[in-house]
Amino acid sequence: MKKILVTGGLGFIGSHTVVELQNEGFEVVIIDDLSNSSEAVLDGIASITNTTPIFEKLDMKDKNALHSFFEKHHDIAGVIHFAASKAVGESVNNPLLYYENNINTLVYVLQELLNLDASNLIFSSSCTVYGQADEMPITESAPVKPAESPYGNTKQIGEEIIADTCKVTEKLNAIALRYFNPIGAHPSAKIGELPIGVPQNLVPFITQTGAGLRDCLSVYGKDYPTSDGTCVRDYIHVVDLAKAHVIALKRLINKNNDANFETFNVGTGVGSTVLEVIESFERVSGKHLNYKFVSRREGDVISAYANTKKANNDLGWKAKSSLDDAMRSAWDWEQKIRNL
Ligand code: WQD
Repeated sequence: MKKILVTGGLGFIGSHTVVELQNEGFEVVIIDDLSNSSEAVLDGIASITNTTPIFEKLDMKDKNALHSFFEKHHDIAGVIHFAASKAVGESVNNPLLYYENNINTLVYVLQELLNLDASNLIFSSSCTVYGQADEMPITESAPVKPAESPYGNTKQIGEEIIADTCKVTEKLNAIALRYFNPIGAHPSAKIGELPIGVPQNLVPFITQTGAGLRDCLSVYGKDYPTSDGTCVRDYIHVVDLAKAHVIALKRLINKNNDANFETFNVGTGVGSTVLEVIESFERVSGKHLNYKFVSRREGDVISAYANTKKANNDLGWKAKSSLDDAMRSAWDWEQKIRNL
């Protein structure tokens, strides 16, 4: 059974990916510093797959601790690297936290991978690298634009670090997955998104408003040049996104990749406005959502949705869930954790 390291594996996307890896017969080892997750997520994973992944609490900024980990687990067939800080607004106020946590840890993981005979890396990247792309839907060849935040910059720099490393060694095979907007939860409602404090992202704020934890959703801007004046995004079910990681990893393990560094957009290919997301929530929950329009949020792009042809054709992966499917799973999860 091939052993896969999932860094940040107790996080939102990481935990859903661990479930899909186990479903595909991989042995999973998780390292997580628990800064934005909880060890209880292990129970949620095990309740779905009947297999508790190996877990080690580890701060990946500690280079020596990470080296010791790799000495113990030298039989790792691949790494899916989620571990990173990911709040756009926080990164503006605390850039060094983001450069240290997101860049140093990637360098340390790569240094360990180069000690192995051969290694496969899936890197968690983001559509944020495109900034406001000139054309919709966005292809992987769209220019990477100056980042709007240190968080976005760490994703751009991360991809460059991996690309530069792959240029000088045949030992490393890597894929960067550029996520669009991950939403929803596992259909079992045993794992899902657990935002700390006030959610910065749209969907958890909607479901918390629906659950009565928040009084009113503020819609950031109603004067954008879109169908209804609100921003457009590509909301992808987190389970579809998780499955893309397993398929990409198999591409590398089976050496079906065309080059030793590739990037893929992972989205549905469908753009939805904020109001359409609200309507989806109201449809699937049967509830009216309380919201108001406020001024635009600094740094928001008008529109971002994926051209998914490369992932469809080269990976053989396509998102299956609709916006309503994803919103329904998000709402089921919210009701479950609030005992509604
Ligand atoms: C979506 C839309 C907001 C909250 C970010 C990162 C991206 C990834 C996902 C980490 C926008 C609007 C939101 C609210 C609102 N992060 N909105 N009221 O900004 O597209 O992407 O999160 O992996 O890298 O950039 O996602 O959910 O914050 O916003 O009106 O209370 O919802 O203006 O148009 P975003 P989001």
